[in-house]
Amino acid sequence: MKDFDPIAGDPITVLLVEDHPGDARLVREALRDTRSLQFRVVHVTSLTAAIEHLRGADVDVVLLDLSLPDGAGLASIVRVRAAAPRVPILVLTGTEDEELALHAVRGGAQDYLVKGVDAGTLARAVAHAVERHRMLLELEATRREQLALKDRVLSHVSHELRAPLHAVGGFITLLVDGLAGEVTTAQREYLELAQRNLDQLARMISDLLDATRAETGKLLIEPAPFDLAEVLDATVSSLRPLAQTKQIALDATLPPRLDAYADAQRVQQVVTNLVDNAVKFTPEGGRIAVVAEAADDTVRVSVADTGVGIARDIAPHVFERLYQASRGQRGLGLGLFISRALVERQGGRIWVEPAAGGGTVFCFTLPARTPASPHAAAPAPW
Ligand SMILES: Nc1ncnc2c1ncn2[C@@H]1O[C@H](COP(=O)(O)OP(=O)(O)O)[C@@H](O)[C@H]1O
Ligand SMILES: [Mg+2]
Repeated sequence: MKDFDPIAGDPITVLLVEDHPGDARLVREALRDTRSLQFRVVHVTSLTAAIEHLRGADVDVVLLDLSLPDGAGLASIVRVRAAAPRVPILVLTGTEDEELALHAVRGGAQDYLVKGVDAGTLARAVAHAVERHRMLLELEATRREQLALKDRVLSHVSHELRAPLHAVGGFITLLVDGLAGEVTTAQREYLELAQRNLDQLARMISDLLDATRAETGKLLIEPAPFDLAEVLDATVSSLRPLAQTKQIALDATLPPRLDAYADAQRVQQVVTNLVDNAVKFTPEGGRIAVVAEAADDTVRVSVADTGVGIARDIAPHVFERLYQASRGQRGLGLGLFISRALVERQGGRIWVEPAAGGGTVFCFTLPARTPASPHAAAPAPW
C-alpha cells in the first residue's frame, strides 16, 4: 500500500471488483462526483482479474462484491487477503445480506458498504476506511519499533549494571578473606549475606539479558557431549544450602553415568531455575527430588516438589514471559520462559505435571547423543 494524503488531493486508487454492470456504474459515479476527494477507479469483473491486478499494481482499497462468477462469499475475502495482505477490503452488499457482510468483517474485511447509499456517503466511507487502515498499520509499526527499542535499552542497561556489581563482589571477597584486617564472626555472616544478595542480583540481570535474547532468538548455546549425571550432581549440591534455608530435603536420584548432548552450563541454568522455584513454592520441611534417566534417544530430567502446586488452568501459562501466578514472591517471572527457550533450542521439550501427593513436577528432555551429521550418515561412495 502506498502512502497517500487525501487532504492534499492525492487520488485514492480503488480496485472495484463487481460483475454487475449496473452496480459497478453506480459505484463509479458515486466516486466521481465528489469535490473534496479524488478517486482513481480500476474496475474488474472477476476475482481472478482482481488478484492478477493486485499482484502487479498499487491499490489503496478493494471494493469487493461477494457474488462473482469465480468467487462467492467469504472465500473471496481470504483469496484477496492472501494476494494483498496490507490492502483494506470493503465488501459491497445489497441491503438484504447485511448478515453476510458482518461475517465478512469478522473474516478479515475492514468494513462493508451497502449498495444504493448516496454518493457522498459512499465516497466518504471509502476514504475513511483507507485512512483508518493506514493509521492501524502505522500504529503497528510504531509498536514494533518501541518493542525493539525496549529490548535494546534493556540489553544495554543490563550490560552496564554488571561492571559495578562485579566490583562490589570483588571487595566483599577481599573483606571476607581478611585482606583488610581481621573479620569477626558477625561481620563474616553479614558479608556472606551481602554476597548472596549480590549473586541474586547478578542472576536477575542475566535473566533480563537472556529473556531479551530468547525473544530475538539470540540465545547462545554451545552443545557438546557430556555426562549429565555429573552436572546434575554438582548442581544439586550447590543448591542444597538454598533448600536448607527452609529445611527442605533436596535429593537427586541419578544413574552412575548419563550421556547427553547439550550445553552443560545451560542445562545447569535450567535445573537451577526449576529447583529455585521448587524451593520458593514449597513450605518449610518439604521435599524436592531431582531424577534423571535415559529414555530412547533422549534423556529425561524431572524436578518434583511437595509444594503449593499449580492449578490445571494456570499450568499452560507458567512458561510465558513475565507470568507469575501470584505477585507475593520475589522473582521477575522470567525463569521458566528462559528455561523453555533454552530446552527447546537444545532440541528438547519442557512441561509441567501435577505431583501425585500434591506439589508439582517439572520435566524436560534433551538429546542423548550428537545428531548424526548428513556426511556421517551417507553411505560411502565405494
Ligand atoms: N514449583 C512450582 N510450584 C508452584 N508454582 C510454580 C512452580 N514453579 C513455577 N511456578 C509458577 O510459575 C510462575 C513463573 O515461574 P518463573 O518463570 O520461574 O518466574 P518467578 O520464579 O520469577 O516467579 C511462578 O511465579 C509461579 O506462579
Ligand atoms: Mg523462577
